Amino acid sequence: MKGKHLLGFDYFSRGELETILDRSAVIKAEWQAGRGRHSLAGKSVALIFEKSSTRTRVSFDVGITQLGGHPVFLTGNELQLKRGEPIKDTARVLSRYVDAIVIRANRHEDVIEFARFSSVPVVNALTDQLHPCQILGDLLTIREAGHDLDRFKVAFIGDGNNVANSWIEAAGHFRFELAVACPEGYDPPAGLVERARAQGGRVAVVRSPEAAAAEADVLYTDVWVSMGQEEETAERKRVFAPFQINDLLLRAARPGCKILHCLPAHRGEEITDEAIEGEASLVFPQAENRLHIQKGILELLISGEG
Ligand code: CP
Ligand code: NVA
Repeated sequence: MKGKHLLGFDYFSRGELETILDRSAVIKAEWQAGRGRHSLAGKSVALIFEKSSTRTRVSFDVGITQLGGHPVFLTGNELQLKRGEPIKDTARVLSRYVDAIVIRANRHEDVIEFARFSSVPVVNALTDQLHPCQILGDLLTIREAGHDLDRFKVAFIGDGNNVANSWIEAAGHFRFELAVACPEGYDPPAGLVERARAQGGRVAVVRSPEAAAAEADVLYTDVWVSMGQEEETAERKRVFAPFQINDLLLRAARPGCKILHCLPAHRGEEITDEAIEGEASLVFPQAENRLHIQKGILELLISGEG
């Protein structure tokens, strides 16, 4: 895995994804036992963020520091990129300074271009299309809740967006059941669903949140309006109104069903305050796991198995 780019799950095997989960679980346990490792000592990692972030930015920054490495945080605005320097030049220059590059970008194509010209691993910290680090953290959380990644059912309620897309990619590798409930016109890309199914993934796209929630072990949601879609807010609030995680929907799921949300949440929109604060919610342990999974990702991509 050393040297690979993590842009999505496409070029990763199931075994590699399991290795990231396993390594992150060990790193978490060691950290909690006060035995943190310094596997990134002497390494620097650039963090380029073109969009807002709380969890991803801070978990990478703190995670790198805890592993003894040096995070170099850069907003898209500060770089010469903003003034028109080509991505291919930026990627080749930064590669000569740092040991990995983490990017949150508006356009997925830009991250692909960055990786094409980077000689160090590039990690997708969210694009308009995918959010792989989020779903790796979520899988860790679901595993900690006692589920076998081939045996649970997750219902994704809401927009067929970047987070939903990474769930679909993950379903191509594991055999969990994924039901995406979204309004017509907001489906995830058909090609992505077809590819996951061709890989053996159990993915359904339905219109009814209740149908998706039936037999679900996990109810998952994300905002109705993603970053960059602010102009569509009024229309989206209208269309997505029935696609809310609330106590009624939770009752349609399997007893003991857990609630996840990648955050930030808009209480009263895609999720109620009761649902996020209630007993079924794993939202904050889920957010914590972003820290542990970022460490596992970087350790494996930068330093490899050793
Ligand atoms: N879930 C997530 O990626 O949150 P941030 O936008 O705060 O990084
Ligand atoms: N779909 C959301 C996820 C935020 C973590 C967005 O792209 O804004």
